[in-house]
Amino acid sequence: MTLAGRNILVGLTGGIACYKTPHLVRLLKKAGADVRVMMTESATRFVAPLTLESVAQQPVITDMWPKPGEYVGTRHIDTAEWPDLIVIAPTTANLMAKAAAGLCDDFVTTVICATSKPIVLAPAMNPEMWRHPVTQRNLRYLVDELGWLLIDPDAGEMACDSYGIGRMAEPEAMFDRLADILQQTHAQSDLLAGRHLIVTAGPTREPVDPVRFISNRSSGKMGYALAEAARDAGARVTLISGPTALASPPGVAMENVETTSEMRDAVMRQLSDADVLLMAAAPADFTPAHAVDTKMKKSERPETLPLSAAPDILRSVAETRTRAQVIVGFALETDEGVANARAKRASKDLDMIVLNSLVDEGAGFDFATNKVTLIDRSDQEEAWPMLSKREVAKRLIKRVATLLSTAAINEPSRP
Ligand code: CTP
Repeated sequence: MTLAGRNILVGLTGGIACYKTPHLVRLLKKAGADVRVMMTESATRFVAPLTLESVAQQPVITDMWPKPGEYVGTRHIDTAEWPDLIVIAPTTANLMAKAAAGLCDDFVTTVICATSKPIVLAPAMNPEMWRHPVTQRNLRYLVDELGWLLIDPDAGEMACDSYGIGRMAEPEAMFDRLADILQQTHAQSDLLAGRHLIVTAGPTREPVDPVRFISNRSSGKMGYALAEAARDAGARVTLISGPTALASPPGVAMENVETTSEMRDAVMRQLSDADVLLMAAAPADFTPAHAVDTKMKKSERPETLPLSAAPDILRSVAETRTRAQVIVGFALETDEGVANARAKRASKDLDMIVLNSLVDEGAGFDFATNKVTLIDRSDQEEAWPMLSKREVAKRLIKRVATLLSTAAINEPSRP
């Protein structure tokens, strides 16, 4: 397997598994990769920087601060931007805790906080530490929320004489996994180059008065994950978002909206210039018929709250879309999921609908995971297993790229 021309940054944190990392670096070098190494102070207690320097054939960075007389410029930023992939091997519980909290108190944590490159964790620790709820919470945050990748620790005998899960994977197995990840990220990286994707996300809010609104439980996580996956696939992305608690993804053009009407206007403004619309938002279907612009006093409580229909955005899209565009809807159903989703796909003239079931544990609002079923124009259903929303997003983006490449070809046979 050749890794020629690929840049890999290896970080070591303090654990006995550090003794395996020089071998991993050798395997990467032998496969043609350029490898740079950074170590925490604790890691240097387990293996000498000189060992890593010798196998990487590069100076190893062990300190945030340059020695007197040594000019390093913005070394943490240069180091963060250089690699195609960062692997932290071994990864301690402490590293995960610091990374999850955003601490940047040494060179390794500062670099991983400053990078947008894929980060792979190879944890190694005592089984009790691995099982600890705080370690598992931090791990889930880094993997499910931030999309970092994991090389699972093995089960086996530990340096502390205990037996259980917590041994860092063997260098050969790690090498295979890293090569695989590099291949996948490379294949995905220009999938949507030159394309413009609109992604909608989150709920909308329909005002009752200046302080009250009706809304729904959408968190926006699926839409934000899609926007990031589309960006990583080389697309220009416009993310039209209702109010959410999520941070704007870097490298994505944000348009923040409040109501369904505003979301419809933003989508329609962008549509003629877009190749794809991923309608992952949950726009409110109803809006108070008589919103008032002063706060309704408790003593003025109305008996009923009359509602009128909010615009159906996808129906407006269906009227103006071209056949070369790919329009994907999302359906959230509590029962008769597939039948309802099929009907929605047809009535909204969608190229594909992604059905989320509220019935499955771990799927739906605010979870980091999702279980979806895809229905395309052939009306075939394809059920995916429970996956992280990020993984669902990555796979959907791949599917969208395929739909785009066939959209123009299929045009004459479309209704
Ligand atoms: N949608 C839309 N405009 C709305 C409501 C929903 O464009 N006012 C889009 C959603 O973004 C989603 C798809 O339509 O992609 C299906 O949404 P869903 O709420 O499941 O369906 P509805 O059309 O609202 O139908 P119902 O509420 O009857 O299930």
